[in-house]
This record gives sequence, structure tokens and C-alpha cells, in this order.
Amino acid sequence: MTETWWKKAVVYQIYPRSFADSDGDGMGDLRGIIDHLDHLAELGVDVLWLSPIYPSPQDDNGYDISDYQNIEPLFGSLEIFDELLTGVHQRGMKLIMDLVVNHSSDEHEWFLESRAAKDSPKRDWYWWRAARDGMAPGTPGAEPTNWGSVFGGPAWEFDEKTGEYYLHLFSRKQPDLNWENPEVRQAVYTMMRWWLDRGVDGFRMDVINMISKVVPLPDGRLSAGSAYADGSAGFVGGPRLHEYLQEMYREVFEGREGLLTVGEMPGVTVDEAKLHTDPDRHEIDMVFQFDHVWADRGPDPWLLQKLQLTNLKAILGRWQAGLAEVGWNSLYWNNHDQPRIVSRYGDDSPEHRVASAKMLGTVLHLHRGTPYVYQGEELGMTNYPFGGIADFRDIEALGQYKQALELEGRTPEEVLTVLRARGRDNARTPMQWDTTAQAGFSTGTPWLAVNPNYPQINAADQRQDPDSVFHYYRQLIALRHREPVIAEGDFTMLLPNDERLYAFTRRLGDTELLVIGNFTGESVQAEIEDAASWSGAELLLTNLPGASSSALTLAPWQAVIYKRSYPH
Ligand code: GLC
Repeated sequence: MTETWWKKAVVYQIYPRSFADSDGDGMGDLRGIIDHLDHLAELGVDVLWLSPIYPSPQDDNGYDISDYQNIEPLFGSLEIFDELLTGVHQRGMKLIMDLVVNHSSDEHEWFLESRAAKDSPKRDWYWWRAARDGMAPGTPGAEPTNWGSVFGGPAWEFDEKTGEYYLHLFSRKQPDLNWENPEVRQAVYTMMRWWLDRGVDGFRMDVINMISKVVPLPDGRLSAGSAYADGSAGFVGGPRLHEYLQEMYREVFEGREGLLTVGEMPGVTVDEAKLHTDPDRHEIDMVFQFDHVWADRGPDPWLLQKLQLTNLKAILGRWQAGLAEVGWNSLYWNNHDQPRIVSRYGDDSPEHRVASAKMLGTVLHLHRGTPYVYQGEELGMTNYPFGGIADFRDIEALGQYKQALELEGRTPEEVLTVLRARGRDNARTPMQWDTTAQAGFSTGTPWLAVNPNYPQINAADQRQDPDSVFHYYRQLIALRHREPVIAEGDFTMLLPNDERLYAFTRRLGDTELLVIGNFTGESVQAEIEDAASWSGAELLLTNLPGASSSALTLAPWQAVIYKRSYPH
């Protein structure tokens, strides 16, 4: 096995609480995952990534961890985890864990100790600060910096007991760990080695580009209409980030083989990503960048912006070019924080849902990089028809709604329009397994409602149907395993100014591919330069085999992959 085995791999993300519930408490669990491993093996994915399954008060659905070396009882136990790991390995797949170490839960014993007294030995494990100079501790505006938290409200919580504030970039139950302290770093590395020794195959590192802060912590920029400042210049890609990741590599990964590491990095630039993923620098294998899922976001967070295809192509083209020689891309449309891609960049109407889901899969999987499939994406699952705020469970949706209404003068309808389209709960509704009650997810009442479209969209039906999104994703995954040009080939974007078609070529040695996706509900003729020269090429895959793609005219939402030898 070479150390770049993951260039040919496809990763599948499981959000355990919404995947499969084996004991009827309405919450997915590890036994539920074990019961469905054959679905994943049949799909053909190589790696499973589990969102956090550690003990947690579940304030942010497990991204608030109170014990890094155990399993949340709602999900199972270490014994069941070992059984799951064995089942994964027996099927030739790997398993990576979510590593959430920018912050812990406020119920973690590290924080309880830190909070207990100013002279606690663990005081400095978190970011404790006094009130702003000249201001009374605990009064509005006295926070040590003006930063807002991602989930609404200030990024600081005042603690009566010691009269100081602690930093939480996310919820107040997610205090930020102080990576400046070498003891914190060693404790994290020890924990990581413990999981690797147990047999896990790597980590997806949560908001890992926020672990290094600018010291002293600087105020951020306050924009018109927002209650708190954007502090990101003080913690995104901070001054010691590369040093920490290199230290982590030496302490945890060096000398071990067959692992995968991927760092979630909101706001990372191409140049920084190149440094992080340059194999010679020994940091991590790949990053999750966000530019392409922010492509439909305007300057006003509460105004929906329609995707401009030329913008999406410019962004992904820039990432492909930037990491062409050194470094590696990860490719994703979906995860547990993003709305469903078929509802977002495709068309989830009954007429076009299947075709557009397949087209989006084709375009993504044919890029250079490692594709990630989020649970239900392989079925073309859609956004949920949310009504009012009471339908949402996500701490981000609830916190931002409150801040926008109470402090920023927004109307409920204005905010709900955006939450319905973009809210994270869209991704978190239960996996749709079959046509029985609750989509076969649970025999109880699911923690978040099942999408009412499960009689039409579910795994059982799709496994029987050779034309389903499921079987199409199987083909895309198999194609990557089979065709070295997909994993290794170079990438050339075509038609950068076309608002309707996404087109590119890939080449490796004497093999060349042409990939085109129609992002509209109309037929469109592809005006590529040497169109005629592709006329004899082999049609490797299309989502609409019945539709003619003669002279490169694509049917609504059609995708095509042509293959020929090079030079032709
Ligand atoms: C990451 C996770 C998200 C979580 C946040 C805080 O962005 O993907 O779900 O809320 O970090 O841990």
C-alpha cells in the first residue's frame, strides 16, 4: 500500500444520530451502523468517517465532547465500537474518527478543573481573560474582545465564580482549548495515539485551522447591522498552526501507515492549503475548504443568493490549479453542516431530482481529489420542508435566529427563508432506509422528523432499481477505482464563461476524459473548441442513456463522460 492510497479512495460520512437506530430510542447508534455496513460495502466506498460518538452533553450534537476516550452511552460502548471497527475492516473498508480539539465540552473534567479556581493547575488549558480595561466584569460590552460566537451571542462567557471570562468560538458549552499550552497538546496527542492503537485509520479534524490564536487576542472588525465583530483574523490560520500540525504529525502519525488525515478549515486559502498538504511538510493529507459551498452566499447573510455557475467554476478551477503539482484536494458537496446539494445546486422537483443528483455527483467525482459522500447523498435525499423555527433543532439555527431577531432587527420570515434553504438540519433528518414507518430509521420517535418524501426516496427501492441514484453513485465510485486518470490525471477547465454547462478535461498519459454537466432544465449545446474531434470517443458514463448527446447537445441536467486516447 502506498502512502497515497487515498487518491483512489472515496470516503462516506456517517452522522450517527441520524443514520440508523437499533434500539427504538429515536437516536441512531453504533449497532445501527453495524446493521447497515453491507449497504456501504455495496456502494463501494473505501473509508467511513464517523461524526463524533464520544460522551457528550449533545449541545452541538456531539461536537462538544466531555470524554475523548469513551463512547456516548446513547450510541453504544467501546465493546460495540470494537465490533463495528472489526466489521468495517472485514469488509475491506477503513474507519476514521472525528477529532474535535479546538474545544471540549464545558463538562469535560479538564474544563471543570480549569474553571474551579484561578490557580488551578489546568487554568491555562483554556482561554481565561479579565474584563475589558475599565469595565465592570459581566456587564454588556465588557467582554475581553468584541468577537461574536458562530452560534450567536458573544464568544465569551462570564464566569461568576472567578470573575473572569472564557472564550468559546462556538457555543458556551464548547470552551476553546489553549493550544499555546504544551500540556494541552500532549494530552491531545496521547488520546489520538490511543485511538490509533485501538485500530482506527485516521481522523477528520474539526475546525483545525482555528487552534492557533493571535496573542494578545485582538478585537475584530464590526460590520454594519451585526451585533458582534467577526474575530476570524484572530484565529483562522493563526501564527502557530503549521507548527502545531507538524508537531502532531511527529507525535502521532510518524511511522504509522495506511492512515488518512483531513482537516476541516473554514476560510483556508489555496496557498495555505498547499502548505498544509505538501507531503514533504508532514502536516495532513488534505483539507476541507469552504469556498465552493459559500459560492451562493452574498454579503448579507439573511438574503438568499442564487448560484452563479461561472463563480462555482472559477472557485473549483482555482483549487484544482492551485493543488495540481503539490498537495491534494478533498471534494464534497454535502456534510452534516450543509443543505442537501440536489436542493441547492440541482433541482429537487420530481421531474429532475434523479438526473440532477446524478449530474452533480458526476461533476464532483470526476475532479482531481478525494470525494466524500454524505449519508443519503447516494439516494439524492433532499432538503426538509421546514415551517417555523419550532421545526429546527440545530443550535446554530436557533442561536442565529435569536440574535438576528433580538439584536439585529431582522424579521422572522427573512431569517426563516434562509434557514429553510441553508440550515444544517436539512442534512440531519434521518436516513431514509425503506417505506416502513419513520423510513425504517427507528421504531420510536426520531429526534428530528423524517422527511415526508421517504416513500419516494429510500435505499430499499433504490437498491432494486438499476437506474437509481444509488447505483449511479456505485458506478462513479467504481470508475475512480478503475480509471487511473480520474485519481491521478491533470485537470483543465473548459467554458469558464458559460452559465449553463460545467465542462472540463482530465488527462493522464495516453488517456483523456471529457466531462460535461448541464446545470439547467433545458437542453444545451456545448460549444467546446474541438467538439468534432470528440465524436468518435467512447461514452464512458451518462446519467441519461436514453437522451442523445450527439454533437455534444446535453439534455436537461444531463452529464456525460467521454474517453479517448491521447493524442487522438
Ligand atoms: C465544525 C463541525 C460543526 C460544529 C463545529 C463546532 O464546523 O462540522 O458541526 O458545529 O465545527 O465543533
